[in-house]
Amino acid sequence: MADQNFDVIIIGSGPGGYVAAIRAAQLGLKTACVEKRATLGGTCLNIGCIPSKALLQSSENFHEISHSAAEHGINVGSIALDLARMQARKGEVVGANTKGVEFLFKKNKVTWIKGEAKFTSPTAIEVAGSAYTAKNFIIATGSDSVPLKGVAVDETRIVTSTGALELNAVPKHLVVIGGGVIGLELGSVWRRLGAEVTVVEFLDRITPTMDAEVSSAFQKILAKQGFVFKLSAKVTGAILTETGVSLSVEPAKGGPAETIAADVVLLAIGRYAYTAGLNLEAAGVAVDERGRVKTDAHFATNVPGIYAIGDVITGPMLAHKAEDEGVAIAERLAGQAGHVNYNAIPSVVYTWPEVASVGKTEEELKAEGVAYKVGKFPFTANGRARAMGAMDGFVKILADAKTDLLLGAHILGPDAGTLIAELTTAIEFGASAEDVARICHAHPTLSESVKEAALAVEGRALHI
Ligand code: FAD
Ligand code: NAI
Repeated sequence: MADQNFDVIIIGSGPGGYVAAIRAAQLGLKTACVEKRATLGGTCLNIGCIPSKALLQSSENFHEISHSAAEHGINVGSIALDLARMQARKGEVVGANTKGVEFLFKKNKVTWIKGEAKFTSPTAIEVAGSAYTAKNFIIATGSDSVPLKGVAVDETRIVTSTGALELNAVPKHLVVIGGGVIGLELGSVWRRLGAEVTVVEFLDRITPTMDAEVSSAFQKILAKQGFVFKLSAKVTGAILTETGVSLSVEPAKGGPAETIAADVVLLAIGRYAYTAGLNLEAAGVAVDERGRVKTDAHFATNVPGIYAIGDVITGPMLAHKAEDEGVAIAERLAGQAGHVNYNAIPSVVYTWPEVASVGKTEEELKAEGVAYKVGKFPFTANGRARAMGAMDGFVKILADAKTDLLLGAHILGPDAGTLIAELTTAIEFGASAEDVARICHAHPTLSESVKEAALAVEGRALHI
């Protein structure tokens, strides 16, 4: 019989779990990772980050060719969408990534235990009828879509992100419930391929945790792309009809309802920590009021030897946050001093243009009573952005009014997700706005806008 005792067993093979497993094995720990899905990689690789970015890229290519080719002097004639091929390509991208994790497990001698893990005691789990023990367990079971009363998901006409990634026809009218990251990314995919997209958002603005100035400019750009926004509104019911779905929508504060007809409805109102089936009670692991596994600053639960990371604990539900926590906990279990700087975790919305942020928003600084300076630079004044024909948006830098320390950075514009890395590095290294302003940036690149925004903090931008 195979050896069933390990130094560490990780439950869940998403970005948190699989990275923790690789790092633990690198550090010499005898490591196993339990995954109930048929492939490794969790939500992110199978039904999240990777398939959504594959479709975002394909739909962006389609849109670019249909809308911008002529402007660049390229005559392509009529173009046609082969959605089946686009979806097949997405599948190939996902397959290559999940196989990649399997290869990394083999390379690092991580044992993949296939099946659903459930605790039978604080020191043992059971998977597919076999018992496994370990000195330490790491819970990395991720998250799932939040349901909405009156809106029954069938993943065909009323879908979560999982179904929205699998549609085999472009809906005529897609209604998205929730103006957050999933709604806007997947709404963009189907909008670019020809769908009418209406977003119903409960609050009075989209992406409510984003810097308000950025979110307002972002909404205007999406509206120009044809998105219709119904803000301060709530869906109270969804009924399947012969041709699609009939939605009842009311003002968020209550009032007369209206009916909206949709071909497909995407429910994207957030995700919740997933612990179903784990039998946490048998281990005595405590969860908070929102069902998240409670941990201290070092990922320890209330039960010695059981830790938790990623979407299943508090903090932003992001793959790179989960990964960094995976590295940190593996290093701590190996006697090192791993830690995560939560003030330097970037977040990116992969729409066109992209939106990327790191550190504090203006609203957070105001609420904390911190005196700050703002430097802004628009992409209209950047030569490379002009050459690309991508002038929407700006870079916004927030620095401490007294010390000039970088407190936050927000970019709405082309390749914002890549540009934010420089400012994340700067925040991680405790840089000032002037430090960034004095760094030589290649010309002509989009990154010059970052330098100019840093110069603008002291009112000395050069190209505006
Ligand atoms: P998960 O990736 O959710 O993995 C948990 C795994 O645990 C799953 O595979 C599950 O099957 C397994 N599991 C659960 N219970 C058990 C059990 N009892 N036994 C065995 N296995 C179990 N984040 C980004 O940073 N960038 C993006 O671009 C991005 N895009 C996204 C797009 C979509 C559509 C969605 C839904 C999410 C996206 N995210 C993105 C969020 C990202 O996917 C998550 O933050 C990330 O996957 C969390 O990683 P995790 O390891 O905590 O959990
Ligand atoms: P979200 O939290 O980003 O957005 C949900 C939106 O729905 C919010 O604007 C909220 O106000 C609204 N809402 C809540 N209840 C509502 C209701 N009843 N009616 C109408 N609107 C309602 O959640 P989303 O988009 O589901 O994404 C879940 C998580 O996945 C996010 O936390 C995000 O971090 C992660 N993710 C990250 C991506 C990235 O990094 N690019 C991409 C996709 C997902």
